[in-house]
Amino acid sequence: MTKKYVVANWKMSPTSTAEAEDILAYIDEYLKNKTNNKEHSLIICPPFVFLDDVSRVLNTSRLSQQAELGAQDIALADSGAWTGEVSGPMLKRLGVEYVIVGHSERRWKINESNEVVNKKLKTILANDLTPIVCVGEKVRDENFKEFLKKQIEATFTGLSADEIGKCLIAYEPVWAISSNPDARPDTPESALESISIIQDCLTKSYSLMANRYLYGGSITASNVQSFLSLEQIAGVLVGGASVKKEEFVQILKNL
Ligand code: PGA
Repeated sequence: MTKKYVVANWKMSPTSTAEAEDILAYIDEYLKNKTNNKEHSLIICPPFVFLDDVSRVLNTSRLSQQAELGAQDIALADSGAWTGEVSGPMLKRLGVEYVIVGHSERRWKINESNEVVNKKLKTILANDLTPIVCVGEKVRDENFKEFLKKQIEATFTGLSADEIGKCLIAYEPVWAISSNPDARPDTPESALESISIIQDCLTKSYSLMANRYLYGGSITASNVQSFLSLEQIAGVLVGGASVKKEEFVQILKNL
């Protein structure tokens, strides 16, 4: 059975190390008593301030076999005067293996352009880390296909097929993200339609035939299976539900 990715994007939560440890202990307890044989690759992406604590827990619990560490952002440069930034080499020293890039909250709330996303993506790869590249339209109107194609081309420009092959690509329609007041999850069918647009675009531009595509946007225990049962969807990116420990473990149970 192919392993499915479950990426926990904790965003700007929780509020303390104790809470972070509590979430991890709950997942660890579930893994200890796990009765189903569904396989998954768990990637926990806490805020920078908790990376060290989460890394320590992952290294000293059962989670070390089942979970890896991800960061939510990276500095454009590896060193130098960049107030407030955290560099790739710093992330690596903390045991980080994955970095989320191009998340819609950074694109739309912090105005990160495609150009910046593209530079960060190259920085992640140059540091030998695995990018989790988020793409997705803001509204699903008659222009969404065009929007998606332009975003993909600008995001991946200058990368080789080999480099793109190293990425996890998360299709996250902005309108489906739970922090959005009118959020509703996408349907697996329309997520597939978008993933095939992304795939086509990458295939045409880079002769890239296959990749690892994730879906993200209002994933819960009750809808996770409908997405992950599709062969073309290699995993899910979970935001809000990933810091609700009972819901998150229920997601793992329902894979
Ligand atoms: P959500 O967030 O699961 O809360 O919709 C997903 C994301 O923003 O990555």
